[in-house]
Amino acid sequence: MEDVALRPKRLDDYVGQAPLKEKFRVYLDAARRRGDALDHVLLFGPPGLGKTTLAHIVAEELGVGIRVTSGPAIEKPGDLAAILTNAVQEGDVVFIDEIHRLGRAAEEHLYPAMEDFAIDLVLGQGPSARTLRLDLPRFTLIGATTRPGLITGPLRSRFGILEHLEYYRDEELAEGVARDASLLGFELDDDAALELGRRARGTMRIAKRLLRRVRDYAEVAGEARVTLERTRMALDELGIDAAGLDRRDRILLQAVVERFAGGPVGVGTLATAIGEDRATLEEVYEPFLIQRGLLQRTQRGRVATPAAYRHLGLPVPDGMGEPLFDASS
Ligand code: ADE
Repeated sequence: MEDVALRPKRLDDYVGQAPLKEKFRVYLDAARRRGDALDHVLLFGPPGLGKTTLAHIVAEELGVGIRVTSGPAIEKPGDLAAILTNAVQEGDVVFIDEIHRLGRAAEEHLYPAMEDFAIDLVLGQGPSARTLRLDLPRFTLIGATTRPGLITGPLRSRFGILEHLEYYRDEELAEGVARDASLLGFELDDDAALELGRRARGTMRIAKRLLRRVRDYAEVAGEARVTLERTRMALDELGIDAAGLDRRDRILLQAVVERFAGGPVGVGTLATAIGEDRATLEEVYEPFLIQRGLLQRTQRGRVATPAAYRHLGLPVPDGMGEPLFDASS
């Protein structure tokens, strides 16, 4: 588990994401000056980049409360009404993680809640059913999603602020783990922090998790300080390679290369082949491999790139040029 106590509370303590932070400084300052609730915010980006952390920071910076829930927990309009009518105060943040997984009827009830700060409750059933409009305090909805393509047009259009979180650079991840090490009260060498950054797939959550494991190894070895040498040894032991790929990533690439002749292979087939569910494949594994140029999504399926062959230590097949750019993917 991530340690909630280590979460940065203010924007200044949030590492990286510089362009995003600059924009939020303006939005937050403007909302504070107007004395109004912040516009609704939609955050998108791969898991583990700090969307939830950012939502908490927004509430903290505004000095308002935050209610946290998730799309799958809001199936019916009644679930939404319960969240929005219970204890949401003027200006509060309502955070809905995985907002692309909201139930359809609930989503439709969210529209007037976002626009008019009102929710329509249906009382009774059949011909005698009546609707009752409940006024809500002005609140800020922060929605987070790993799958922006699954957000419907009507929902998306009701957000005033749409922002993308980017993968972190190695140095930023190093800064993040150095911060945690100092909060946890142990010494982490600078080169060890950078090594953790290099192997954390651009993802803050992974960097922080690896830090904990490396600390375990250092402790068991009786070392008071986490060194580069210990970091490398521990990460190798954990199956995290120099590029940050873990065993599952390599199994995925190996499957494409060895069992499907480098692709194209359909995403469903690939998921079955490696015993992973399709959503995890698409949302967790693929974005990083695609971003690092090891895998491509094409209309006909997934394709391994020459870089994937090189990474696996395999010869690049004859006639395999750099892959064609597929504008449709
Ligand atoms: N935890 C999650 N995201 C973070 C960030 N960007 N900086 C510091 N800690 C974080």
